[in-house]
Amino acid sequence: MATLCEKILRDHLVEGTYEKGKQIGIRIDQTLTQDATGTMAYLQLEAMGIDKVKTDLSISYVDHNTLQSGFENADDHKYLQTVANAYGVYFSKPGNGICHQVHLERFAAPGKTLLGSDSHTPTAGGVGSIAMGAGGLDVACAMAGRPFFLSAPEVVNVKLSGKLTKGVSSKDIILKVLQLLSVKGGVGKIIEYSGDGVKSLTIPQRATICNMGAELGATTSIFPSDEITYEFLKKQHREDVYVELKADDDAVYDSTIEIDLSTLEPMIAMPHSPDNVQPISEVEGMKVDQVAIGSCTNSSFLDLTTVGNILKGKTIHPDVSLVVSPGSKQVLQMITKDGSLSNIIASGARILESTCGPCIGMGQSPITNAMSLRTFNRNFYGRSGTLSAKVGLVSPEVAAASAITGVISDPRKFDFDVVEEPAEFLIDDSMIIAPDCDKSKEIVRGPNIKPLPINDPLDNNIHKRVMIKVEDNITTDHIAPAGAKVLPYRSNIEKISEFIFMNNKADFHDVCKEYGGGFIIAGHNYGQGSSREHAALAPMYLGIKAVVAKSFARIHRANLINFGILPLTFTNESDYDTIDEMDELHLNDLHNIEVGKPLTLVNVTKGKEYVVDHNLSDLDIELIKAGGTLNHIKNNQ
Ligand code: F3S
Repeated sequence: MATLCEKILRDHLVEGTYEKGKQIGIRIDQTLTQDATGTMAYLQLEAMGIDKVKTDLSISYVDHNTLQSGFENADDHKYLQTVANAYGVYFSKPGNGICHQVHLERFAAPGKTLLGSDSHTPTAGGVGSIAMGAGGLDVACAMAGRPFFLSAPEVVNVKLSGKLTKGVSSKDIILKVLQLLSVKGGVGKIIEYSGDGVKSLTIPQRATICNMGAELGATTSIFPSDEITYEFLKKQHREDVYVELKADDDAVYDSTIEIDLSTLEPMIAMPHSPDNVQPISEVEGMKVDQVAIGSCTNSSFLDLTTVGNILKGKTIHPDVSLVVSPGSKQVLQMITKDGSLSNIIASGARILESTCGPCIGMGQSPITNAMSLRTFNRNFYGRSGTLSAKVGLVSPEVAAASAITGVISDPRKFDFDVVEEPAEFLIDDSMIIAPDCDKSKEIVRGPNIKPLPINDPLDNNIHKRVMIKVEDNITTDHIAPAGAKVLPYRSNIEKISEFIFMNNKADFHDVCKEYGGGFIIAGHNYGQGSSREHAALAPMYLGIKAVVAKSFARIHRANLINFGILPLTFTNESDYDTIDEMDELHLNDLHNIEVGKPLTLVNVTKGKEYVVDHNLSDLDIELIKAGGTLNHIKNNQ
């Protein structure tokens, strides 16, 4: 009576007993990194003193920060390539594609565990991998052969029946799930898809759903592997990795949601949250200024040939800027060959390289007050690079239809041919460099590669002020903004710390410097969004000792622990209302912190005491006391 994810997790269990909610350690088969998080991960891997990665397969992708308007990014890419070669990691060159799209095409395999330093790593769940996002340090630890720790999850079954109708896409399925569960609905859970409707979905469609499961806060999402998985792998010349995998017929789930695909309609996530979902019909006719098609959510061959079919013979609206980024070199080569690219170009679209591009704020910021429709997975405030812009998240079908009309439009009202899966994928791995592990070759470090800051061991008492108080659903984009101005410094924590919380509190960096850091007070779901560990590492560098929140997003909480910052939660949520910025807070006797035993937080300024939980495991406590995971590893070598 096991669920699919339980079978795979049990198969990889190396520490603990599999019991829901209990911490387990699992063996990681594959890792991936991308350049925005990868430089830190490889600096951390180097600090661990191993000779060669211990995983079956590790890949370093360059897809985020590919603009080269200064030496910084090019230097980082060279460091990533040379360090990958030294440690036995494959290197995917910039232009080869977005990590998750390329991984799905060329490496993901049913029944394998994949840990990636990117929150959309669950994309590989489309072929039946247990694929999870984590901080770069966790990924470095996995590359060094250490287990990855997680709580044995609750499992939500999303049971699909029926078949999508023309103009409705797999993006609409995941938007529906987000509408039902919200951005907090998946925390501590794995979303497992089942039912007859699964058979009607191609692998790229399944991957879109798993990709955006990250927006539910879920640990990961997974589809069974079946004959459709086999066909996809065969067309990628990788059928040797296929195994059939599914849940037992009598599997017991913690909850079940049923969705009849034939009843779904095109949907949109309106600003500024991926769960602010409504049917297109409710916003149809709203003016659109920009349409962006691409990202790891919707940039497959199927997505872009569908877009090509809708745009064929049409011209986009004069007031709309349409940009298209193919997900990979494979996709770009195939849409070039089959003529879809020509249809897209003829319509008036601008073609971008096969990278994250506008999704990470790397160019294409829309005009002031714009309505931008994007096929991406996130529409957080400010992520587009234009603070006044609004971003709606839609399917490629809605995006293409709206680009033609200049207003939000229902693709079901358009006449276009439905796309079939290609008979074969075009295989060309020439931009993936295999490592030779030759240690005599230099690891090239440009001047932008700075040494890693290391935390001090935990003090027994912390007496510090509140540096910032923030509301619910603060994302890692709020904490450590992305974009072309900031990302070049991702290997330079001193410099990147100047940008921390810059859109919430412009002088956060200066206040932290003046007071030697202190506390962050936050609402629910603190740290949602990306796996960006700079959102923990840079606050640590600025002296942040503890974050006291109503609740945390999973990956960010793990990152805080990795860097020795205490993640505390209010037992009484209304205590949040009684704390203000600059209040003096006090925690004592931290060296005797124990599993399951709450702490007392004293608000010296207000004369109040609060009970706060830490929910730390024995291992977490050791990590925090040591001042973070790297110190802990060094102490135990
Ligand atoms: Fe890249 Fe955006 Fe995905 S930044 S990895 S395309 S979420």
